[in-house]
Amino acid sequence: MSEKMDLSRRSLICGLGAIFLGLVPDSAIGTGVVKVLSNGKVEVSIAKNPSLKKMGGVIQFKNKNGTDIALIRTANSSSGFRAINLRCTHQGVTVEQTSSGWICALGHQAEYAFNGELTKGPATSDLRSIPIKVTKTKVTVG
Ligand code: FES
Repeated sequence: MSEKMDLSRRSLICGLGAIFLGLVPDSAIGTGVVKVLSNGKVEVSIAKNPSLKKMGGVIQFKNKNGTDIALIRTANSSSGFRAINLRCTHQGVTVEQTSSGWICALGHQAEYAFNGELTKGPATSDLRSIPIKVTKTKVTVG
C-alpha cells in the first residue's frame, strides 16, 4: 500500500467538500494537486496548480483534522510560500478571503493581510503559521 493517498476527484468534491481555490482567476485544481499523506501532512503540487506559480496565488484546503488552511505564494522566489491556519485568532471563526486579505466576516470582523498579519481587531495576533517544507515541485504543509 502506498504511503501517500491520492485524493480522487470524488473525494475532493464530496469527502472534503471544502477545497476552495484562491481568487486568482487562472486557478485550477485537479486530482494530484493536493494529497493528504498518511502522517496527516498535506502535499501540494506547485506544478499542477497554476495559482501557486505567481506571487499572490492562494489555495485553500482542509487537512486530515478538518482544519482550514491557506497556502499562499508570498514571493516569486522558490521558497516564497506561507501556510496559515484560517481560524481567527480571536475566537476561532474561519476567516474568508477578500481582495486584499482575510476577514472574520462571521465573527467580529477582524481583518488580516494577505500573508495573515493582523490589520484590524478585535483579534490581537496574526493568523497562525503552519510549518511547510518546499521543494521545486511541491509544498508539504504540516
Ligand atoms: S472570532 Fe474573529 S473577530 Fe471574533
